[in-house]
Order: sequence, then C-alpha cells, then structure tokens
Amino acid sequence: MSEQGATHERILLIGAGGHGKVVADVLLSAGRPAVGFIDYKPGLIAHGLPLVPHMDPAGCAIIAVGDNWKREQLAEQHRPWATAAVHRTAVIGGDVEIGEGTVVMAGAVVNPGVRIGRHCIINTGSRIDHDCTIEDYSSIGPGTTLGGGVKVGRGTAVGLGSSVVHRIVIGEYTVVGAGALVLKDLPAQVVAYGCPARVVSPRKREDTYL
Ligand SMILES: CC(C)(COP(=O)(O)OP(=O)(O)OC[C@H]1O[C@@H](n2cnc3c(N)ncnc32)[C@H](O)[C@@H]1OP(=O)(O)O)[C@@H](O)C(=O)NCCC(=O)NCCS
Repeated sequence: MSEQGATHERILLIGAGGHGKVVADVLLSAGRPAVGFIDYKPGLIAHGLPLVPHMDPAGCAIIAVGDNWKREQLAEQHRPWATAAVHRTAVIGGDVEIGEGTVVMAGAVVNPGVRIGRHCIINTGSRIDHDCTIEDYSSIGPGTTLGGGVKVGRGTAVGLGSSVVHRIVIGEYTVVGAGALVLKDLPAQVVAYGCPARVVSPRKREDTYL
C-alpha cells in the first residue's frame, strides 16, 4: 500500500460520480488531496476539481467507480498507477493487508489478520472482523458487518447494512442484497438477500446491482 500523507503525490480519480466524491474526501482526510478527475461523461462538475483528459505518467490513480465489474475493467487499463487510500477515521488492526487501488472509508473498522485484495471498497462504517479475506474488486457496503474468517470472492458485492456470520464463504461475482443476514455459504454468480439470505437468481458478472 502507498505511504499515507506523501506530499509529492499527484492522485487522479477515475470516475467523477457520487462515489468519486466520497473517495476524494477519503484522500483529503488523510492529507493526500486528489488533483483532478478523469471521466468520459461530458458536462460533469467534478466537485471543484479539474477534469483532466488523461493520466499523468508521474502520478497515481484510484478507480473511483462503485460498480465492481466496471471498476475491474478500468483497473486493468490503469494498472500501473493504482494507489490505496484509507480515511483518517478508519481503524486498521495489526497484520492487515490492503491491496493497491483499495479504498477504506470513514469509520470502517478492519480487525487484525484481514487480507483485502486490489481495488476493493470497504465502505463507510463497515466492520470486518479478524482473519477475513476479501478478494480483488469486491465491495463491502456501508454499515455491513463480516464476522471472523469470512471469505468474500472476487468481484462480489455485499450490500449495505448486511451481516455475514463468521467463517461464511461467498463465491465470486455474487451480490448480497441490502439488509441480508447471511448464515450459509453462497455460491458464485448469484443474487441473494433476505433474513436469512436465500439465493433468488443467477447473475452474470456484468449485471448491474446499484
Ligand atoms: C438485491 C438487488 C440487487 C436486487 O435488485 P433488483 O433485481 O433490481 O430487484 P428489484 O428492485 O426489481 O426488486 C425485486 C423484488 O425483490 C425485493 N428485493 C430487492 N432487494 C431486496 C433486498 N435487499 N432484500 C429484500 N427484498 C429485496 C423487492 O422488494 C422486490 O419485491 P416485490 O417483487 O415483492 O416488489 C438490490 O435490491 C440490492 O439490494 N442491491 C444492493 C444495493 C446496495 O447495497 N448498494 C450499496 C450502495 S453503496
């Protein structure tokens, strides 16, 4: 993970939507202000920062796109520039790995022994208990809790306000709907929700869920 607070950094955010706005705030809180946004949608006002046409070879970047599949596609393109960011108010335990491009938002708690892959989102106020593994391009929603030793597969989204009990394994590119209580393992590429969570449909990696 990149050093926090390095003053020489030139960090661009790729994606100037609502998620980009929050990522800019994460950087600012840690004394690493973003210098601009890249976005391909015309007419965006990028939260007071300039829209820039392309990557700066001397800079670094965060893919500030909330959708896991879209973020994965963009990350492959911008791989050499990825940096991670952790909000000043997040609590990170000992022996925690945070992969390049991953963002940990305000008030998140990540307990010891957790492994977080590349380009993940650990959203506002989420709690990741000890020894969880969160694979590349996955997201943990605002206010979501993972018990100890949970495994979240690549590209999987655990929706906001969900709870996943200890040692559960969730497969790749699955979506756990908002407010779910996950008591049993979930396979890859399904949508599941409810209390207790049940699989409701299959899904493709690129299906939207936000
Ligand atoms: C699970 C999810 C992907 C389903 O989306 P969808 O397929 O578009 O579902 P719909 O909105 O068409 O709803 C279909 C039905 O499922 C129900 N439903 C949808 N999501 C549900 C959830 N999380 N829990 C319980 N029921 C849910 C709806 O109430 C609806 O029921 P009805 O047919 O009786 O009216 C979506 O609702 C969701 O929870 N996404 C995650 C959002 C999130 O966490 N965002 C984080 C932003 S940071």
